[in-house]
Parts: sequence; C-alpha cells; structure tokens
Amino acid sequence: SSPIQQLPRQTSKQRFVADLSQCLFDFVIQLLPTQEEMAVKEDVRKLLERLIRTIEPDSRLLSFGSTANGFSLRNSDMDLCCLIDSEDKLSAADLVTMLGDLLERETKFHVKTLPHARIPIVKLTLDPSPGLPHGIACDIGFENRLALENTRLLMSYAMIDPTRVRTLVLFLKVWSKRRKINSPYKGTLSSYGYVLLVIYFLVHVKNPPVLPNLQQMPPLRPITKEETHLNGYNIWFFDDIDLLRQRWVSENTDSVAELLIDFFRYYARDFQYNTGVASIRGGLLKKDTKGWQNDFTGGRYDPSRERNRLCIEDPFETDYNVARCVTKDGLYTIRGEFMRAARVLSTRPDRAIVALAELCE
Ligand code: CTP
Ligand code: MG
Repeated sequence: SSPIQQLPRQTSKQRFVADLSQCLFDFVIQLLPTQEEMAVKEDVRKLLERLIRTIEPDSRLLSFGSTANGFSLRNSDMDLCCLIDSEDKLSAADLVTMLGDLLERETKFHVKTLPHARIPIVKLTLDPSPGLPHGIACDIGFENRLALENTRLLMSYAMIDPTRVRTLVLFLKVWSKRRKINSPYKGTLSSYGYVLLVIYFLVHVKNPPVLPNLQQMPPLRPITKEETHLNGYNIWFFDDIDLLRQRWVSENTDSVAELLIDFFRYYARDFQYNTGVASIRGGLLKKDTKGWQNDFTGGRYDPSRERNRLCIEDPFETDYNVARCVTKDGLYTIRGEFMRAARVLSTRPDRAIVALAELCE
C-alpha cells in the first residue's frame, strides 16, 4: 500500500483543530504593530521625556502595558509611566497640571489632565495624519511602579511560550474588543483583566499546566524583604526566563486551538463566578476568605458590593480586584459571549476560517 494510506486518518475534529490553529496564527500576525509604528511610538516617548525633564530634570518616562509586555496590537494606546528619582519633587497632582499646560503650549497633542485620580494622569491624543492614519492615544501616569512590575511579569509569561501564550492573548484582546466587552468604563473588563484570565487558565486550570507559576518558584539565591517588597506588596517572581526555558518544559502539548476551545468552555461553564476568585499567584481562591463576597441577602443594598461580581486578584496588589468595574449587566454580557464563543467552536463549521470570522463578527 502507498505511504499515504498507512497514515492514520485524521478525524474531522483533528482537521478542524489543526486548521483553526493555523488560522489563529495568520489572523494574529496581521494585527501586530508594524516596525514603523513602534518607531513612531518610541519617538513620541523620547519627545515627551525631554519635555517632562524641563520640569523635573531627574525624571524618566517608561513604557508599560501592551507596548512593553509583548501583547500589543496595531494602533493600541501607549501607556507611559513617569518616575522621578529626586528627593524633593513636586506632588503628582502639581506635576500633572504643569505638564498638561506645557504640552498644550508646546505640542499638537490634545491634553486632558486628571490630577486627583487614584493614579494622577495626563491623557494625550494626536489627530490622525497621513503618516499616522490612526493618530495616537497616550496616558502618562506617575510613580506607578507596580504597573511596571506587573508588565514585566506578563512579559515573562509571554516569553516562556511565545507562540501559544501570545497567540491566545492577542486573539482574546481582538475578540473582546470586536464583541464590545473590553470597556471597564462601561462595566466590562480591561485588556489587563483578560490577560490575567488567560494566564490563570494556563497556570492553574490546564493539567498538565502550560505555564509554571513564576511567583511560587523557589528563588535561585536567598532574597531579603527589601528586595522583594514595593509599597508593602510582594513583587518577587522568577524572572530568569533564559534559564527557565532551559530547565522547564511543559508536558502540555495542546495546540493553540485546543487551548482556545477549552478556555471558552471553562469560562462559559466551569468557573465559579459567584464564589471564586481567579488568582495567578494563588490559584482558585474564595471570595469570602478575601472579604470580596457579593452577598445581597439580608441588610440594605450596598452598591459598593457591586465591585465584586467578577473577581480577579491582581498579581501583586492582592487586595485589588482587577475586575472591580465589571457590573451585573457587564458580567452577564461577558458570560454570554463566552458561551457564544464556546458554541461557535463546538459546532465546528467546515472551515476554521468561517468559525473565526463568526467568533469576531
Ligand atoms: N493596569 C493595572 N490595573 C488595571 C488595569 C491596568 O495595573 N486595573 C496596568 C497594567 O500594568 C497593564 C497596563 O495598566 O499592563 C495597561 O492596561 P490595559 O490598557 O488594560 O492593557 P493593555 O495590554 O495595554 O491593552 P490595550 O492594548 O487594550 O491597551
Ligand atoms: Mg494599554
């Protein structure tokens, strides 16, 4: 018999999954930012840093969020963080106000300042132009060192298994934006929240896990409390990724498509929204042990409880629920979308590309 006949026949499921993985790679690749876009953004960062230094000479302006963690899509916003190394510095609120005035005078950015927010910020936008057809949107925050650290943690997870982790995360970001469930201001979840859901799933739900728990690995040498703590939070994690890639190999060989199908099924069906807290540091935790219960029985209705419909623990700021903006309606919509996605993928249309188009329409 011919060699072809000796190969085991692929089932229709195997064929669909293989096609879907390929489609996911192709889809995500065309949404990555171009070299040109990244260069323009770096120029903007340098320009802004130069201007800020006319007010605070000892300041640095650093990228965080998607531009720095490997999960960036074309035309995504820039998140910048200003660190000031001098002893007697302006208050963040004053600096925000002064910087806002300066940028309004000296640049073409539209400027909005929020000096009294939890993290004071300056919001900038640049109108579209021929060289920059989508313009630029940029937030400058101050002294947000924890955000720089959580960016580094997400980047480390992305680097352990770039193909599977980045493809999954980027796809979910696009999907959540196209399905309009990526707006914390309107009661749904931030990109950061979705990324944490993916990592939680890969570390704690999949068995064998796709990723190790970087925050629970033993350090290579003894470390002191000063080295590991920032603003009272433990920010240590195993960050020698080169070494890790030599020593740690996941036993999980699922393809990207299989992981995506399981991801949607898990959040459509299995995650315990009423009692559970997804924690990438600690696994599945309980709302009541964290004081994040959402119990409306008895007592008066307290809208502040509304903060804990969906609970995702921040990897470092463990008393911060990253999903606190998600409202009752928002969660209902998000869960509906997880169910819809799980259904589309389980019906396995003839061609994977059709499934992908339907998922994101
Ligand atoms: N962040 C945070 N707490 C939140 C939301 C965001 O600390 N509740 C910080 C994180 O460091 C995160 C960064 O802000 O990496 C940017 O968040 P977000 O804009 O949601 O994620 P991006 O990956 O930048 O996604 P997008 O491309 O959609 O902007
Ligand atoms: Mg961002």
